Amino acid sequence: MLRAATRRRMSSQATLPLGSMKPKVQSSPTIKLAEKAPYPLPTSSRGVERRRLDDMHFGIARYLGGLTYAPLDKPSRILELGSGTGAWSVEAARIFPEAEVIAADMSPLPETLMTPSNLSFKQMNFLEPFPFHPGSFDVVHMRFVLIHLPKPDNYIHRLASLLRPGGWLLLEDVNHTLLDANRPVGPGVQALYRGYREHMQKQGVDPGVGARLKNMLETSKQFGEVNEVVIPCYMNPKSTEGVCGVIMNPLCFDKKVRKLILIQSDPALQDLGEILKYSIDGVYVGIMDKVGPAGGITPEILRGWRKEVNDPERDLRIDMHLTWSRKL
Ligand SMILES: C[S@@+](CC[C@H](N)C(=O)[O-])C[C@H]1O[C@@H](n2cnc3c(N)ncnc32)[C@H](O)[C@@H]1O
Repeated sequence: MLRAATRRRMSSQATLPLGSMKPKVQSSPTIKLAEKAPYPLPTSSRGVERRRLDDMHFGIARYLGGLTYAPLDKPSRILELGSGTGAWSVEAARIFPEAEVIAADMSPLPETLMTPSNLSFKQMNFLEPFPFHPGSFDVVHMRFVLIHLPKPDNYIHRLASLLRPGGWLLLEDVNHTLLDANRPVGPGVQALYRGYREHMQKQGVDPGVGARLKNMLETSKQFGEVNEVVIPCYMNPKSTEGVCGVIMNPLCFDKKVRKLILIQSDPALQDLGEILKYSIDGVYVGIMDKVGPAGGITPEILRGWRKEVNDPERDLRIDMHLTWSRKL
C-alpha cells in the first residue's frame, strides 16, 4: 500500500503542466562552450576519461624523463592550452615554482585536483581569439588538442604569436594512423578508418596532424629551431617490429638522449604502447557514446578493432610526434 505522502506527491505531479516536469538543465559556461566547440570526447575532468589522460601523461613523462626535451631555462610565464586533467600544468607549476602557470581549456580542471598556488585556470574556446597579450609567454604547451581543431594549420601563427622571442612552443600530437608491421591492416582497422576518419574529415579536423607538425612549424617561418621526436607506440607487448623499426626508421632515433633502443628492452616504451592501446580504445568508446553512429564507430566496428589489436600475430602501432620549437 502506498504511504499517504507518496500518494500526495504522485497526484500533485500528475496535475503539473508538462513543461514544468522537464528536468532542469543548468546552462553553465562549460555547456555553452561545449556547444560552440564541438569535441567528440567526454569531459576530461572525470571518470574513465580522466584516468585515460592521466595514464597517457605519466607514460609520456616517464619515457621523456620529464615534461619535455626543450631546455627550459627559468620560464616566468607558462601557458597550457587544452589542460584536460591538469596533470601537465600541475607538474610544470611544481617544477617551476617561480613561474606563473596558466591552464586553459573549455572544461574546468577536476574539482579534486590539488593545484599549486602558482597555477590558475582560464576557461575558453580555442576557436575564438586568445584572451592573452601577444608575446607574453615563455612556454606554450598543447598536447592532443590540435587533432580536434578544424583547420589545424591556422593555429601555428596564433600559437607563435603568444610567445616572446626565444620562447618555446611544445606542440604534441598523434598521427592517428594505425600501422601494422607485418602486413596491411586488417578489415577491422579498415572499417574503423572508413567511419571514424570520414567523420573527422567532415568536421574539418585532421587525424594525421601529428605527422605534419614538423613541416607546419618549419614552413611557418616563425621558429629558429624546430625539433621533433617520434615515439612509435607498439600496442603488442611482444612486438618484434620495434627492433628493426627503430634501426631502420631514422625518425625513431632520439638524438637528445641518444636512444637507439630495442623496443623489447625499453620498459618505458613498452608501457607507453600498452597505455596507448587502451587509451585509443577509450577514444573510440568515448566517440561512440558521445557522438553516436554519426561518429563512425559502432559496437561492431569496435569489436573488429579489438580483435585485431589483440591478435598476437599482428603488430599494430601509432606514432606520437612531440615537437619543441624556439620562437625567432
Ligand atoms: C584529448 S584532451 C588532451 C588533454 C591534455 N592536453 C592531455 O594531454 O592530457 C583534449 C582537451 O582539449 C580540450 N579542447 C578541445 N577542443 C577545445 C576547444 N575548441 N577549446 C578549448 N578546449 C578544447 C578538451 O576539453 C580536452 O580537455
